[in-house]
Amino acid sequence: MRVFVAGATGAIGTQLVPRLVAAGHEVHGMTRTGSKQAMLRELGATPVVADALDPDQVAEAVGRAQPDVIVHQLTSIGAIDPRRFDKSFALTNRLRIEGTDHLLSAGQASGVKRFVAQSYWGAYARTGSGLKTEEDQLDPTPPREMRESWAAIRHVEEAVLGARWTEGIVLRYGGFYGPGTSMAPDGGEQIEAIRKRKVPIVGDGGAVWSFIHVADAADATVAAVEHAGRGIYNIVDDDPAPVAEWLPALAHDLGAKKPFHVPRFLARMLAGEAGVVMMTELRGVSNAKAKRELGWRPAHPSMRKEFAA
Ligand SMILES: NC(=O)c1ccc[n+]([C@@H]2O[C@H](COP(=O)([O-])OP(=O)(O)OC[C@H]3O[C@@H](n4cnc5c(N)ncnc54)[C@H](OP(=O)(O)O)[C@@H]3O)[C@@H](O)[C@H]2O)c1
Repeated sequence: MRVFVAGATGAIGTQLVPRLVAAGHEVHGMTRTGSKQAMLRELGATPVVADALDPDQVAEAVGRAQPDVIVHQLTSIGAIDPRRFDKSFALTNRLRIEGTDHLLSAGQASGVKRFVAQSYWGAYARTGSGLKTEEDQLDPTPPREMRESWAAIRHVEEAVLGARWTEGIVLRYGGFYGPGTSMAPDGGEQIEAIRKRKVPIVGDGGAVWSFIHVADAADATVAAVEHAGRGIYNIVDDDPAPVAEWLPALAHDLGAKKPFHVPRFLARMLAGEAGVVMMTELRGVSNAKAKRELGWRPAHPSMRKEFAA
C-alpha cells in the first residue's frame, strides 16, 4: 500500500516508517523541516515537506502522494508544566484539531481507504476500578487547566471515527518509553528528572499508568494500517501499575535515590490540580482488544521489567 505518515520524523514516526517499508509498503513521510528530508530517505520514505497547519500545503502533499492510508502522528510536546497544561500542549492541540481536519479533508479528496490517528491512554474518566476498555467513557470533567487538551483529544477521535467515507482508526497509545522518547534510558528528560529526584510520589501515588515501548507502538500501528476495522484500540503494555509501585522501582533501577513523598495539598500548590490528578487518579488501560483484533502482542510487556533487566 501507499502510506502517508504525518509526523514521520518523530519518536513514533522514526520507528514506524522503517517497519512499514520492511513490510513492503511505499511510505511518504511528512515533515515541516526541509533539513530532515535526508533522514526520511535513510528510513526508506519519500520525503514530503509541508506544514500540517496549512490546509493548502497538506492538500497538495496528500494529493501528490495519492495514498491508500494516512497515519496522523503529529504532536509538538515540549517541556510540560502541569500548572499550565493546556499552554504546554497548545501547539499539539492545534495539530490535533486543525491538523486532523486538514489531513481528513485531503484524505477524502484522495479517497484514502484508512485513516489511523494517534490518541492517548490517559484521558479516560477517573472513576471505577479495573482497567479501562475502549467502551469506557472519556473524562467528562478534566481539571480546568487540562480542558483544552482533552477537548483536542476528543476532536481527533470524533473526527476520525465520524469520517464514514474511510476506515477511521484511533490508537490510544500508552506513555511512550524507549529510544527517542522522554523516557529514553540514555538521557530522556523524564528519566533524567527521576534520576535527579525531581518526580515525587503525590499522596498515595494511586494513579495507575499504562506504558508502551515505542517499538511496540509502531508494530501495533503497522497492524492497524494493514487490517484494523474502524474503531478505537488501546495500545499499551501488559503491566499497568500504580505510580507508588513503578516510580520507586524505576528510581532504584536507575540508581537514583527514592522519590520524595509529597502530600496532595502541597502538590496542588506546586503542580496544580492536573499534576495531582496525573499522580493519583488516572486509571490503567486494557490491551485485550488490540491483542484480539490486531493480532498484536507487545514484545516488551512490562516497562518496569525492561528497566530492571
Ligand atoms: N503517548 C505518549 O506518551 C506520547 C505521545 C506523543 C509524544 N510523546 C513524547 O513527547 C515528546 C516530544 O514529542 P514531540 O511532540 O516533539 O513529537 P516528536 O516525537 O518530535 O514528533 C512530532 C512530529 O510531528 C511533526 N510536526 C509537528 N508539527 C508539525 C507541523 N506544523 N507540520 C508538519 N509536521 C509537524 C514533526 O515533524 P518535524 O519536526 O520533522 O517538522 C514530527 O515528525 C517525545 O518524548 C515523545 O516520546 C509521548
